[in-house]
Amino acid sequence: MGLIAVASAKGSPGATTTALLIGALWPRAVIVAECDPHGGDVAARMSASGGGTLDPDRGLLSLAAAGRKNLHAELVPEHTQQVVGGLDVLVGVRVPEQSAGLAHQWGQLGPILAAIPGCDVIADVGRLGAATPQNVMLTAASDLVMVCDDQPSNVVHLRDRMLALEPALRPSSTNGTRIHVLVVTDPRRGRPVKEISDALGRAAAPVTDVHLLARDPKGAGFFAGRVDGRADRTALVRSARPVVAGLSSATEVFFVPRPETDQGAGPAGSAWPGWEKPQLVRQPVDGPSLTSAGGEPR
Ligand SMILES: Nc1ncnc2c1ncn2[C@@H]1O[C@H](COP(=O)(O)OP(=O)(O)OP(=O)(O)O)[C@@H](O)[C@H]1O
Ligand SMILES: [Mg+2]
Repeated sequence: MGLIAVASAKGSPGATTTALLIGALWPRAVIVAECDPHGGDVAARMSASGGGTLDPDRGLLSLAAAGRKNLHAELVPEHTQQVVGGLDVLVGVRVPEQSAGLAHQWGQLGPILAAIPGCDVIADVGRLGAATPQNVMLTAASDLVMVCDDQPSNVVHLRDRMLALEPALRPSSTNGTRIHVLVVTDPRRGRPVKEISDALGRAAAPVTDVHLLARDPKGAGFFAGRVDGRADRTALVRSARPVVAGLSSATEVFFVPRPETDQGAGPAGSAWPGWEKPQLVRQPVDGPSLTSAGGEPR
């Protein structure tokens, strides 16, 4: 029922990996949607949950075609596929040329992904530029997670992008889109995170919080189809847990986990031992579909 966008401002710091990671740790039912107009990576990198390859034509493009006349939230789950590990993914376009065909639908996509009954969406929106088409989705998100590496020059791009987005996202207002920064760096060194946080603060960049995300090729490999050992023991997953806990509790309204006894032990044959796919039930409530961290209606 809520939308969290994951993006970058420069380079390839790990936005796709982070979107999958957040989705894998999300405590409520969730779809990871690849909304990067430059092309998605999941179909090429990951296999389907039962083995075999993912269908690259079933996802964002087939959704857009099915919803050409009437794109609505209930259509989305029909176009998702389950990847190894049990995560439901809306596979993105293969090449940038295909995203041109989505034209006006970018504008519809944000509100639709934010309104799927019974399910939150983590959207990988890729690299944000001044006029990238996916920018229009961001106002529908409760939170935008900007992933960056620890190179000082890239932090400048991050700061400038956040300042450029501020008028549209109004991150400090109750109904705005909060912006979080994840710095991919050596997990033993907290210093780059402090430096980046200070630099963003000096520039009055509209950031809610800055966190460390471990630079960890082995952990990242799980989200690129290289499954080796236990994902939950990797530095990447351990560093992400508190971040995901904060994000998910700030956006929690509609769903509660089933009691312990009802919970499945994760997808059969999961290649991610120790992983448990949340089994959730809808809790009837009255009122708005999403609240901000302060509990105010969005
Ligand atoms: N936390 C991390 N630690 C180590 N390697 C990582 C991490 N996150 C991502 N990577 C690796 O970096 C490469 C790029 O990652 P990814 O595709 O997620 O980046 P991206 O920002 O989505 O890039 P693009 O702009 O091309 O979409 C991949 O090889 C991935 O495995
Ligand atoms: Mg990517």
